[in-house]
Amino acid sequence: LTTAATALALTVTAGAALASCEDGEIVVKFAHVTNTDKHPKGIAASLLAERVNSEMNGKMCMEIYPNSTLYNDDQVLEAMLQGNVQLAAPSLSKFETFTKQFQIFDLPFMFKDIAAVDAFQKSETGQAMKESMVRRGLLGLEFWHNGMKQMSAKKPLLTPEDAKGLKFRVQPSDVIVAQMEALGASPQPMAFSEVYGALQTGVVDGQENTWSNIYGQKFFEVQDGITETNHGIIDYLVVTSVDWIDSLDPAVREQFTTILSEVTDARNAAVGDVDAAARQSVLDAGGVIRELTPEQRQMWVDAMKPVWQKFEDGIGADNIAKAQEFNN
Ligand code: LMR
Repeated sequence: LTTAATALALTVTAGAALASCEDGEIVVKFAHVTNTDKHPKGIAASLLAERVNSEMNGKMCMEIYPNSTLYNDDQVLEAMLQGNVQLAAPSLSKFETFTKQFQIFDLPFMFKDIAAVDAFQKSETGQAMKESMVRRGLLGLEFWHNGMKQMSAKKPLLTPEDAKGLKFRVQPSDVIVAQMEALGASPQPMAFSEVYGALQTGVVDGQENTWSNIYGQKFFEVQDGITETNHGIIDYLVVTSVDWIDSLDPAVREQFTTILSEVTDARNAAVGDVDAAARQSVLDAGGVIRELTPEQRQMWVDAMKPVWQKFEDGIGADNIAKAQEFNN
């Protein structure tokens, strides 16, 4: 079923991607790794393409390559610098080789919910982060939301002790690596598209991700259950190359960034609904969700939060303090 669904998605996407571009239009390739219609990023990307292709018809043409069909997140930024793709929205955990500034978003139990993330990103500190990679050739245009992370494994996870000795797939982030090590677990960085297979074959025992990714990739099918830890967040930076955005005629650039900003506002405002729907879909599909008692949750906080100390100097204690203000 998964293979058939993927094949169908590829067919539909290939059709959509190739359908609309005409001679003379600026072609914008947008590569991402999730599905197109049940995921906060996929829905936002689809809406963006729809609006660009209708409102900027004749000037600009956007092709979406979802489901890691063009690039994985570990390839896409290099491909962007080569001019082979113009837009991507990797999670904030995937920029570490370009900037350490986004490490703050990976600190466990840093933000109590996505509203706090949103407020921090809209602050002066958050907005300045979008320009933190300009010298390396990348410009952040907008932050897109996903949701809070949950943990799963091949056995029930109720206390941090349960995670000890297990192998967990992680995004390529030193903070998340340290977080798993703090649990006595073994972190294994791996591309998103490989996680289902790795869980199925036992290459890794567990993973952490948001409801929309757990549902979209069907991780619950190959895990004992999902523990609702809400211990961290996944959010995205819509990113482009400085060279490409600078090459646009100012009026075209203005129209494009205005559409992107409107799509961002609309979809970020709806992210809670997509997240809740994905959680419910996991249950409807027979997935097991385990909730923690306040005492159990506190044990995860106590086990993971010491990781902050290790990264405090790099991230800046003042930035951490500022971000914490938005939890109130
Ligand atoms: C992951 O690799 O788990 C996520 O960053 C995937 C995504 O884009 O949400």
